[in-house]
Amino acid sequence: MKQKILVCRALFPVVIERLAQYFEVDYHDRDAPLEPADLAARLADKDGAITLLSDRIDEATIAAASRLRVVSNVAVGYNNFDLAALARAGVSATHTPGVLDETTADTAWALIFASARRIVSADRWLRAGNWQGWQFHDPWLGNDVHHATLGILGMGRIGQAVARRAAGFSMPVIYHNRQRLAVADEAACKASWVDKETLLRNADFLVLLVPYSAATHHCIGSKELALMKPQASLINVARGGIVDDAALIEALQQRQIAGAALDVFENEPALDACFLTLDNVVLTPHIGSSSAATRLAMAQRAADNLIDALHGRRPPNLLNPEVWAARQLMTKEIVR
Ligand code: GLV
Repeated sequence: MKQKILVCRALFPVVIERLAQYFEVDYHDRDAPLEPADLAARLADKDGAITLLSDRIDEATIAAASRLRVVSNVAVGYNNFDLAALARAGVSATHTPGVLDETTADTAWALIFASARRIVSADRWLRAGNWQGWQFHDPWLGNDVHHATLGILGMGRIGQAVARRAAGFSMPVIYHNRQRLAVADEAACKASWVDKETLLRNADFLVLLVPYSAATHHCIGSKELALMKPQASLINVARGGIVDDAALIEALQQRQIAGAALDVFENEPALDACFLTLDNVVLTPHIGSSSAATRLAMAQRAADNLIDALHGRRPPNLLNPEVWAARQLMTKEIVR
């Protein structure tokens, strides 16, 4: 008998076909999340699940899922998982690091440029029929990207990919990370470690790439924004909640910083309506990894993780190796 899995969101048909070779697939073939109660009900008889960022997997969701052995997120971030609850239930968790680094770094750069050169507002203005002819003092005087200082908060794989691109624009790169990179990695991305305050005070473009956790909640708030240069732009391609959105709105309204470009929001998709009234912020709907090739690679990686885990092979991107190890031990003892 095939093991049973739930796929919580419409994915690429090629991935579903692959999963169906191994498993009986309960497929929520929609591009909208399941309601929490439906999610819990459909997990009740499953051995595994492919989940998305909008699927909260916590104590209540898995309470009835006594067979559940693995949840495989199609994302590098996993703040939708309650890892403590998963550990108590002996459920392994996986994610998709690596495959989206370059695409997300591209998105960060798209937002740097859009913010610096006011591309979105200019486009809207032109479409509205306002352009009367070329002007020297046009309303779109922006800030230069080349030779400006790039600051990165959170220097993991994506941060390093963002940093490597800066050489092409002759930009000095400074970063802050809890742990300083190895010398060779710093040299590869030509980046210098600084403390957080120095980063905030010196960056012309500050790109946020820390994961969301209790420790990073509102790590950019009014105190931090007050340290930034008036010509600086804040770019968030990491997670909502890292930035205190109310404080950022205030800073943008007061022109305390020049601008922001945000791909993620505190209560997305319900972002604060004040953002919509500001012309110095660029807003995108959490599309950091959204190239066709990368989204396919993420879905395939999530399938790899699930297939391996349900066949007793250690999946490549385990988030909770201790849970996996405990289950392996238990299985051996039962066999013995
Ligand atoms: C996207 O936000 C991800 O975590 O993959």
